[in-house]
Amino acid sequence: MKAIIPVAGMGTRLRPHTFSHPKVMLNVAGKPIIGHIMDKLIEAGIDEAIIIVGYLGNMIEDWLVKHYNIKFTFVNQEEQLGLAHAIWMCESFVVENEPLFIILGDTIFDVDLEPVLKSPCSSLGVKEVSDPRRFGVAVTGGGKILKLVEKPDTPVSNLAIVGLYFLRQAGTLFSCINHLIDNRIRTKGEYQLTDALQLMIENGERFTTFPVHGWYDCGKPETLLSTNEILLKNHPPSKQHSGCIINDPVFIAGSAVLENAIIGPNTTIGEQAVITNSIVRDSIIGDDARVTHIMLDRSIVGNNASVTGNPNEINIGDFSEIRLG
Ligand code: UTP
Repeated sequence: MKAIIPVAGMGTRLRPHTFSHPKVMLNVAGKPIIGHIMDKLIEAGIDEAIIIVGYLGNMIEDWLVKHYNIKFTFVNQEEQLGLAHAIWMCESFVVENEPLFIILGDTIFDVDLEPVLKSPCSSLGVKEVSDPRRFGVAVTGGGKILKLVEKPDTPVSNLAIVGLYFLRQAGTLFSCINHLIDNRIRTKGEYQLTDALQLMIENGERFTTFPVHGWYDCGKPETLLSTNEILLKNHPPSKQHSGCIINDPVFIAGSAVLENAIIGPNTTIGEQAVITNSIVRDSIIGDDARVTHIMLDRSIVGNNASVTGNPNEINIGDFSEIRLG
């Protein structure tokens, strides 16, 4: 089955990291976000991926082709006019009466997709959230979705749509997207996938929901770090490094160099990174980064970046209390 993965966006909420890397190439728990997504899709039987690239797309393309042996089609979305527009660009690569799976490029998930991909009707991945006002939500009744509401002011449903979409027949989605584009129907300035799906429902398409318990957002620094923490829980214990203390779970690249360091928990250290005389926990340290004489907590250090603190020398008497900033 084919999957479409839109990854054309600039990832502005993750700047400055996304100035030099597309969001999906950021390392979380030892591999790029897109790597986690691809591994899950391939495990579920996806054998062809249509990747919508735009901003820094070559980096994504090069990495995917190097690491996966499935058929890729890369579609360039020059202007990010919204998700429905991104999907619209793939029309000539999908077969009208074949099923299709769409997943957003910043959504790492932990869900058994096999039954979803065999579902007799279209289905959207949902997660129960306590505050649905930030999300598009699905209002359900009688075993199906009755309507979709974008960022509801009133609590119509707490089932947030989390970026995994199974379409029984690709053609019905594309005819609704074409309707939006032909009539320039935008919401908040963008061609919205939710609007196209809502149109499908209004045209009589039956949609169900499937629960996505493991849904790990990577769109903001704080969610990238918490996703790093969650994914590392499944990581095997790290090897010991002499003269260092490793508090699992961590991912330490084989070529990283650690000297007199305390690493972890919940920390990813990239290839050829050098950590000296430092404590690093709950953090992501990029490839070739240098970290010296510092304590880092909930930090993201980009590739080739360098962070140096001061070794403090103090001489204090009994009962003193000092706090170094
Ligand atoms: P986001 O809304 O998170 O946008 O898109 P973004 O650019 O990645 O991040 P911010 O908001 O600027 O920080 C969700 C997913 O849809 C893709 C994005 O690449 C991301 O994977 N997308 C969105 C497109 O491919 N094209 C679009 O026109 C819009």
